[in-house]
Amino acid sequence: MNILIIGNGGREHAIGLKLSQSPQKPVLIFAPGNPGMEELGSCFSISTDDFRGLITLAQTQKVDLTVVGPEQPLVGGIVDAFHAQGLKIFGPTQAAAALEGSKAFSKDFMGRHGIPTAHYRTFRALEPARAHLREVGAPIVIKASGLAGGKGAVVCMTIPEAESALQSMLGPKAIFGAAGSEVVMEEFMEGEEASLFALTDGKDFVLLPSAQDHKRIGDGDTGPNTGGMGAYSPAPIMTPELLEIVSKTIVAPTLQGMREEGVPYQGILFVGLMMTRQGPKVVEYNCRLGDPETQAVLPILQEDFLDLILAAVEGRIGQIVLQPSQQWAAVVVMASKGYPGPYETGIPIHGLDQAGSNSAGLLPDAHAVHAGTRYMQEKLVTGGGRVLGMVGQGPSLEAAIRAAYTAVSKVEFAGMQYRRDIGKKGLSRMVS
Ligand code: AMP
Ligand code: GLY
Repeated sequence: MNILIIGNGGREHAIGLKLSQSPQKPVLIFAPGNPGMEELGSCFSISTDDFRGLITLAQTQKVDLTVVGPEQPLVGGIVDAFHAQGLKIFGPTQAAAALEGSKAFSKDFMGRHGIPTAHYRTFRALEPARAHLREVGAPIVIKASGLAGGKGAVVCMTIPEAESALQSMLGPKAIFGAAGSEVVMEEFMEGEEASLFALTDGKDFVLLPSAQDHKRIGDGDTGPNTGGMGAYSPAPIMTPELLEIVSKTIVAPTLQGMREEGVPYQGILFVGLMMTRQGPKVVEYNCRLGDPETQAVLPILQEDFLDLILAAVEGRIGQIVLQPSQQWAAVVVMASKGYPGPYETGIPIHGLDQAGSNSAGLLPDAHAVHAGTRYMQEKLVTGGGRVLGMVGQGPSLEAAIRAAYTAVSKVEFAGMQYRRDIGKKGLSRMVS
């Protein structure tokens, strides 16, 4: 079976690694891919928004199944475009991907279907938004409605912070362009976050191992938000009881609501959760797997991931029961100096085996996932903000974290930064 994986980040490398272990022995191709993926199959430099080019690639390479990593092509309608050519693809249609593509849509949807989330109002003009702020005060969360690369949500602890966030989205010098022309202002929720991934055929679903991300750049959750600096799986906060509650009050009604509205949701439904005192609430939906959560979730998935994807595409998820994972995994992201702000690229990376740079054999219980890397004169160099994810696995969370940090200690590039406390919150839950 020929499989095309679309994307060029750590998540897509992790998907490729998992699919390469499938007993069905698929042939993998990637567009555009990265040096890690080059070790798993051929990479074609076609951009993720070039649907015509990707369709031609799928046709000429006789691709049997396409798996989409990032949200932009999904929100842009890649699934509809592939379906129109009779090509099999895993992911939601453009209309269904609006759960991520438009926060205004997803908040209204949750309201219509009684799905627990923060109270909110949407605004398109600055003055009414400011008036609302004066009424409700801080803390408050202000979000650009459209896709903003994970940087469109501002948690404002004070009114001046909220004023400046509103100015940046609705004011004369708006920084998010169209993505910020509609703004969601929502109640600040207090609690711990977790990431949950439902794999669904639109009707039934299975839950992949839960995970927890580390969004802030600095230890102890300090500094600005990033795409995610590390993750571990499963998340001890997601007890079996809580998973049951989330399934019943959030995942099932979301899928049913989408069906009722005529936009059945097939693919991965990523539910970003906040465990509040009133119970779990939705922070946001995403229409794809998380990055870096995938790097920790997929290694501990016991089932053949390819089987699960095919079951979703073919409407057979109702026949599947996942075994609870016996393993733990943690991923520590190694990022460029300056990230999430501006950063330099082209800096040599040392310590990964030069010939086989994905270093599957680095350590027995760890491996490297490539995110922002590239080759320059046959040398591996940095090519993005998040450069590598070092993944550790083990029979306990502690062992997985230790393995990940041992792998981190083998790798070096000038200016690298990484968090020292990945998984700490999870560990504290295991002791208490
Ligand atoms: P989002 O883009 O909606 O995922 O938001 C990014 C991050 O902002 C989330 O992962 C949370 O850490 C934080 N956040 C978003 N909405 C809220 C909220 N209503 N209350 C507290 N924190 C939030
Ligand atoms: N790690 C969070 C995300 O993928 O959106």
